[in-house]
Amino acid sequence: MHEEKIKRLAQLKKSAEGGGGPDKIEAQHTKGKLTARERISLLLDEGSFVEIDKYVVHRGDDPTVKKHYGDGIVSGFGTVNGRQVVVFAYDFTVLGGSLGEMSGKKIAKVMDHAMKIGVPVIGIIDSGGARIQEGVMSLDSYGDIFFRNTQASGVIPQITASIGPCAGGAVYSPAMTDFVIMVENIGQMFVTGPEVVKEVLSQEVSFEDLGGARAHATKSGVAHFVAKNEYDCIDKIKKLLSFIPQNNLEDPPMVESSDDPNRVDSKLASVLPEAPYQPYDIKEIIKSIVDNGDFFEVHELFAENIVVGFARMAGRSVGIVANQPLYLAGALDINSSNKAARFIRFCDAFNIPIVTLVDTPGYLPGADQEHNGIIRHGSKLLFAYCEATVPKITCIVGKAYGGAYIAMGSKNLRADVNYAWPTAEIAVLGPEAAITIIHRKELKSSPDAAAIKKRLAKEYRDKFANPYIAAERGVIDVVIDPMETRPMIIRALEALADKKESRVWKKHGNINL
Ligand code: HXC
Repeated sequence: MHEEKIKRLAQLKKSAEGGGGPDKIEAQHTKGKLTARERISLLLDEGSFVEIDKYVVHRGDDPTVKKHYGDGIVSGFGTVNGRQVVVFAYDFTVLGGSLGEMSGKKIAKVMDHAMKIGVPVIGIIDSGGARIQEGVMSLDSYGDIFFRNTQASGVIPQITASIGPCAGGAVYSPAMTDFVIMVENIGQMFVTGPEVVKEVLSQEVSFEDLGGARAHATKSGVAHFVAKNEYDCIDKIKKLLSFIPQNNLEDPPMVESSDDPNRVDSKLASVLPEAPYQPYDIKEIIKSIVDNGDFFEVHELFAENIVVGFARMAGRSVGIVANQPLYLAGALDINSSNKAARFIRFCDAFNIPIVTLVDTPGYLPGADQEHNGIIRHGSKLLFAYCEATVPKITCIVGKAYGGAYIAMGSKNLRADVNYAWPTAEIAVLGPEAAITIIHRKELKSSPDAAAIKKRLAKEYRDKFANPYIAAERGVIDVVIDPMETRPMIIRALEALADKKESRVWKKHGNINL
C-alpha cells in the first residue's frame, strides 16, 4: 500500500524533473544552453538543494496549454560555499519559460522565504516573458514580483543571471535587483524585441545589438558583469556572494588574509606621471593596496572613467570607488555618477566600508552633458556619499578640483578619514582654467599672453595645487607617503570597525532620480 504511494511520488518527481520533455531539453542543449536544473546544481553545494513547489501546475483556462509540473520555474533553497541562499530559475523547456499566475506565485513564495530568513536571492532568467495565454493573471504575477523586489531592496542582496531571453516587462524585475550578470551571446534583455522595433520604427537591429550582454554592459549599464559562458556566470555569482553579507543586519564575511596588512609598496610613488593630465591606470594603485591584488570589478565596461568594485583589505570586504584618468581624464559625467552612486548605496545598505581614491579634474563640461542632465545625475553622487553611514575613507592621489573634490567622498560629505598624497592638487579649478578667469583682463591686454599664462599657472600650481592648504584647514586629516597607502587605509578600517552613525529619521529621502 505505502509502496504504491512512494512509487507514485517517484514517478511524479521524474515527470517534474523532466521539464518540457526530452526534445525540448535537447533543443535547449543544441542552443548551447544548460537547463534550469543543471544551472542550479552548478550553483549550489552538492546535495544542498531543497526544491519547493515542484508539483505546481498552471490553472489557466486555455486547454491547448499543456500542464507541466513546476510550471516552468525551478525554485527552492540551498547553500553556496556553505552559506544559505534562495534560488529560482526559469525553465525555458516549459512553454518558453513564460511566466503565468502559478509560476509567479512560486517566485513570490521563495522571495518571501528569503526575506524571512535573511538570505540572498538569485534569479536565473531564461524566459519569453508574460505567458500570453494567461493574460492579466500573468501580469498580476509580475506585479507581485516587482513589489517584492522593492521590499527586499536594501534588506537582502538580489542577484540576477540573464542566461537566455528576458523579454517584455520581465526585464524590470532584474533591473530592480542589485546585480545583473549577462552571459555573452546567450543573455538578452529588451522591453520590445527586434520585430517590434522594425514594425514601429522601421529600424533593423539584431537581438544581440539591441539587448545582448555587450550592449547592456557598455551602453545602457543594465549589466554589471559579462560572463563568457554559463560556467563563468555561476563562478561570478559565487565570487560576488563571497564579498557580501547575507542581509543588511550582518557584516560581510571576514576572510583570513595571507597579505601583510603593513605591506608598503615603494612603486606607488612612481605610478603618477610627472606631467599633469598624462593618463595612467588607477587600477595599478587599487591592485597594489588590496589583499593579494584581488579586485572584483563591477561595471567594468560601463562609464570607464570611474572604477568601482569589491576587494578585501586585511581580510575585510571593502567597496572601492576610484576615478580613472585613462578615460575622459577621470572626469565625472552622467554615467559615471550614476554608476558610482548606485554602488555606494549598495555598499551602504550592506555594511561594506567605502574606500575612495580621487584623481579627477572635475565634472565634464559641455552642452551634451548639461542637456542630458549632469546636474540631476551628477548630484546623485553627492546624495549617495552623504547618505552613506558605513566607514568612509578617502585618499586624494592627484587632482581634486571643484565640485568633483566635494563629490568624491570629501570631509563635508562625512567621510571619516581623509588622506592625501603629496601629489594631491586640491583647488576650485585646474590652474589653466582658474587663471583664465581671474586674470582675464591682464591676459587679454597683454601681447605676451602665452608666457604670462605659463608663469601664472606655475604660481597658481605652487600656491593651490597641493594638499597642504587643505591639511592646514583640517579637511585633509593626514598627508601620507604613497607607499604607506595600504597600511594607512587598513588602520583606518580597523579603527572604524565599530562605527555607529545615524541620520535623522524620515520615511525616505527623495534622491534626485
Ligand atoms: C507563451 C511563449 C511565450 C510567451 C515563448 N513561448 N514566449 N508562450 N507566452 N510569452 C513559447 C513559444 O510559443 C514556444 O512554444 C516556446 O515558448 C519556445 O519559444 P520559441 O519562440 O520557439 O523560442 P525561440 O525561437 O528561442 O525564441 C524565444 C523568444 C520568443 C525570443 C523569447 O519566444 C519570443 O519572442 N517570445 C515572446 C516574447 C514576448 O514578447 N513576450 C511577452 C512580452 S510582454 P512551443 O510550444 O512552440 O515550444 C510581457 C509583459 C510583462 O512580458 C509585463 C510586466 C510588467
